[in-house]
Amino acid sequence: MNATGAGRAAVVCGLGTCVPPYALTNEELSKLVDTSDAWIRSRTGIGQRHIADASTATSDLAVEAGGRALKSASATGSSAVDAVIVATTTPDHPCPATAPLVATRLGLGTVPAFDLAAVCTGFLYGLAAGAGLIAAGTAERVLVIGAETFSRILDPEDRSSRAIFGDGAGAVVLRAGEPDEPGALGPFDLGSDGSGSDLITVRTGGSRDPYPTAGDAADPYFRMNGKAVFRNAVERMTESSRRVLDRTGWTGGLPDLVVAHQANLRILYAVADRIGVDRADCFVNIDRVGNTAAASIPLALGDADRSGALSAGRRVLLTAFGGGLTWGACTLTWPDIRPA
Ligand code: UT7
Repeated sequence: MNATGAGRAAVVCGLGTCVPPYALTNEELSKLVDTSDAWIRSRTGIGQRHIADASTATSDLAVEAGGRALKSASATGSSAVDAVIVATTTPDHPCPATAPLVATRLGLGTVPAFDLAAVCTGFLYGLAAGAGLIAAGTAERVLVIGAETFSRILDPEDRSSRAIFGDGAGAVVLRAGEPDEPGALGPFDLGSDGSGSDLITVRTGGSRDPYPTAGDAADPYFRMNGKAVFRNAVERMTESSRRVLDRTGWTGGLPDLVVAHQANLRILYAVADRIGVDRADCFVNIDRVGNTAAASIPLALGDADRSGALSAGRRVLLTAFGGGLTWGACTLTWPDIRPA
């Protein structure tokens, strides 16, 4: 039995990332809303974020990142997959899901494909869902994509959220393998708490507050109670990381590198401090891409591998927190792959 509860593990064998070409710097943003480079850097660690142009939807970024992950996987084996999961907060449409279109555009035929909504924890939940499909024998190889065009749901007047969020996508290919081989995922720790569902919301557009009856009270934009979310994020990611590290049982107890959801640099360092990891061993790319929600962890994995912070054999802790509220953590030993 392995950490996913079945006889075989899900092993990471390919990784691909993509950000839209346009980077909105803090200086440029401060011409659009009342903010400053100094405020954004000191409160969040962000220097710029990528923004998709008007013709680019979440599926476009997902197809690009997914295609690159398949190419990366083909270097070590097959580029075929038999299931696709797209974790996103910003699907192309409320209905249908984005994943079937992504699968078709990637030429994957009629494989099962579905979206997963866990906001900034979406990619971690997606890894767990993909690992579950493999453990159950439902799939041999799964493409898990985190993709967002978060800029589409931001209130143009909201300087707080516009400072933080950006667009992008990242993807991994999982294959069936052995629990003790590099790249094997697990254990996982996942959680949620709906009593905090009002802390991160897009209120209008669902069944509780539908268009067009929402009338004057309609609010189609992303809203976040920043301070409460901050506190919860530190607490939940710390607890989840501790639980998963206990269960992993690495010698010395700690990972070589933490690749956490890039929510806010202060959150990353607060979590690292609490679990006893040097800040230097906490990977940071939020300065270049901002908070990309479900795309955040795979984008960070790609940048970490390309920068040399991640290499084969390094022990990695993944952790995330997001709307729902949702959170999670997972460990793996990094495999010998070439991100595309
Ligand atoms: O991705 C998963 C979920 N998200 C997160 O984990 C994000 C968690 N929260 C945060 O990262 C932080 O709470 C924020 C970055 C969103 C806000 O930082 P803060 O230090 O908590 O600021 P605040 O919301 O308490 O605001 C402090 C002040 C306010 O002004 P007053 O009322 O003190 O005059 C804000 O209006 O900072 C002001 N402010 C800004 N000023 C300049 C808020 N945003 C900005 C801005 N530029 N962009």
